[in-house]
Amino acid sequence: MCGIVGYTGDKNCVPILMNGLTSLAYRGYDSAGVAVWEGSELTLRKAKGKIDQLQELLEESPVGGKSGIGHTRWATHGEPSDINAHPHTDTRKTLAIVHNGIIENYLHIKSMLEKNGCVFLSQTDTEVVAQLLGYLYRGNPLSALTQAVAMLEGSFALAILFADDPATIYCTCKDSPMVVGHGDGESIVASDIPALLEYTRDVCFVQDRQIAVLRREGIQYYDEFGVEIEKKTTHIDWDVESAKKGNYEHFMMKEICEEPDAFKKTFDQYVSKDFTLKSDHFPWDEAKAKRFERISIVSCGTAYHAGMLGKKFIEHMANLRVDVDIASEFRYGDTLIKSGEPFMVISQSGETADTIAALRRAKELGCETMALCNVTGSTISREAEHVLYTYAGPEIAVAATKSYLTQIIVLYLCALDLAQKRGVMTQRQVSDRLEEMSRVPASMQKILDNKEQIQFFASRSFAVKHVFFIGRGMDYALAMEAALKLKEISYIHSEAYAAGELKHGTIALIEDGSLVVALATQPELQAKVASNMEEVRVRGAHVLALTNGPWEGAKGHSHEQWEIEKMDETLAPLCAIVPMQLLAYYLAVQKGCSVDQPRNLAKSVTVE
Ligand code: AGP
Repeated sequence: MCGIVGYTGDKNCVPILMNGLTSLAYRGYDSAGVAVWEGSELTLRKAKGKIDQLQELLEESPVGGKSGIGHTRWATHGEPSDINAHPHTDTRKTLAIVHNGIIENYLHIKSMLEKNGCVFLSQTDTEVVAQLLGYLYRGNPLSALTQAVAMLEGSFALAILFADDPATIYCTCKDSPMVVGHGDGESIVASDIPALLEYTRDVCFVQDRQIAVLRREGIQYYDEFGVEIEKKTTHIDWDVESAKKGNYEHFMMKEICEEPDAFKKTFDQYVSKDFTLKSDHFPWDEAKAKRFERISIVSCGTAYHAGMLGKKFIEHMANLRVDVDIASEFRYGDTLIKSGEPFMVISQSGETADTIAALRRAKELGCETMALCNVTGSTISREAEHVLYTYAGPEIAVAATKSYLTQIIVLYLCALDLAQKRGVMTQRQVSDRLEEMSRVPASMQKILDNKEQIQFFASRSFAVKHVFFIGRGMDYALAMEAALKLKEISYIHSEAYAAGELKHGTIALIEDGSLVVALATQPELQAKVASNMEEVRVRGAHVLALTNGPWEGAKGHSHEQWEIEKMDETLAPLCAIVPMQLLAYYLAVQKGCSVDQPRNLAKSVTVE
């Protein structure tokens, strides 16, 4: 959802800006542009469409310089067009600006500026900020910026190049991520970490209303009043290659194939070599774990589905009630949560606007907040009292895959730790389970090694119009994520349904050619799921069963059977998600969809 990059240093900034914009393209965008200081003036190049269009424009009308800012825009105010694309300038062209977020009071500021003679060229809220800064500017960029920031409402990350101080980039933000780093004779800013990785891995996250001033020699920081402050850097241990596609056709496939490795990395962070939990890595001790009456989990999208599965794990293994809510519902809903209760948010990016708002609300209510997060230094990781990191590495495809896996791994480990500390499971039982868990990546690898079976199925099924994922218990929670994965990247209508609930209405939708994927990894519930499979089979559905080891019973009620290697039923969802992600991937590829950047979607939803 919009991307910002800015560079100042010894090199020509244009290839660096274009490289940065390409690495942020995964966030979703519909136009792109750059502003470069060419020695005597600020030169802009902007194009509607993909970065390739901007590249073509730069080839027709080249620009070059040692400082510049770039942007990929995802339209919010005004259609995608060359004019609405960023950067924007004020009328006198004293500055150029790029912006992520939404300025909520832009109409109010615009009318004030129009009364003072400003003429607007675009429909964007961003141009209002450009004109406001131009209006306030009296030769001191920092002063103009602190005044403007005090007037802005909403969310913003801004990078600005002033013509009077062209080797410097001024940056600020509120409720929208912004990260800066200093390399060898160069400083760089971006809205997301991957754009910085080639230059430095020691970065600094600009916090609300702080200002970062980037020069080739280094970076200075100021508070909202313009007073200089010190900031600590955060070391990012992702490597450059992990944010690149390598030989894979799509990031999504690369990220699915990285799952066994992400599993091991996350597991090793929380589990010792002797298969005992590193119990001090969890934000509760024995006394607290025993006192808990419930845990609330709040998140969005895939992370919400991870929470749904986490609920099943924790309730089943630790005998502790878990309430799960969608962040956008929680933030405005009535809440019965009490002060002191444990409250967990889950977020890959750590920057999802609704999840951040939910976390802040829980803090106001006095809850003990914890976050499951994949990005060190992100807003959520900074603001939650306790952070349980997932170790998925950078996830570039819009569709979450390895981040979901690592979230459910950590939730599974939380369930085991709570079970042990609450006295529901013995240490021996926990260790046995962990030992078995350590073998799951090998089972996953076997699925990946035989993925052609799934590709072949997809090549026969891609014309399907409706897909229903059904399951009971943990399989139902898993079905939710399987259905989301399919619909978001293949645009095939898909639903997740609790298998026993079908005949209360939804079964009316089953017709000849509907595809029903029955998740049947829970032996105790298999007989029940078998009846549900039969109900849809006799109504014309094509039934695919996914089982935990061989299950003869599936044969009579389904047309196809896939199996994961037999494992404890609580562990099965950790492995069973892989074929579901591959199914979504191959169906989307067969349909010719834009797998890594599906239509209308952004990787990180940083606006409400
Ligand atoms: C799913 O594939 C999506 N990427 C989306 O549902 C995502 O999980 C959701 O927007 C939450 O993002 P977060 O984990 O970064 O907070």
